[in-house]
Amino acid sequence: MIPTKEDCLKLMTQCGMLGNIMDHSLEVARVALFLSTELNRRGQNLDLSLVEAAALLHDLTKTECLRTKEDHAFTGSKLLKEMGYERIGKVVAEHIRLSKVIDPFRISEEEVVNYADKRVKHDRIVSLEERFQDLKERYGHSPRALESLDGLKEETFKIEQKIFSLLDFDPDHLRERLPENP
Ligand SMILES: [Fe+2]
Repeated sequence: MIPTKEDCLKLMTQCGMLGNIMDHSLEVARVALFLSTELNRRGQNLDLSLVEAAALLHDLTKTECLRTKEDHAFTGSKLLKEMGYERIGKVVAEHIRLSKVIDPFRISEEEVVNYADKRVKHDRIVSLEERFQDLKERYGHSPRALESLDGLKEETFKIEQKIFSLLDFDPDHLRERLPENP
């Protein structure tokens, strides 16, 4: 079961999502949907409705978690699964860190949403280098946190390589290739 874009936007409002997180989510959805469409043209089989809904809802509980300090990938996933959105919950659970089970022959909805989130800083498309620099400044307050972010950066570059090995443009050209908002 996948909610429509309208239903997702309603849900985001109901959860009291901050405006900046709303703008970020809309841009992540635009990137994720574009990449998925391009990947499907090249033989992948991504569920576009799932990608769009999961990208819109990936930070559903983040506003609340800023206060409670909970893990928003976990609480967001749990809430969505409780609402009956099992598959979206699974994608949201992996939007920060992917599980280790990666199929080398198929790009998953989890990988696309995870990657799109790493290319959007606030509501702007940036390189992975710039996004991880920003993440380090915001969250890299200890040697352990910095090490963890370095590991995550390395994993994300692998996903980037996997996605773009199938596409006819480079990661640097994502911004120009993305269609304008209707
Ligand atoms: Fe997030």
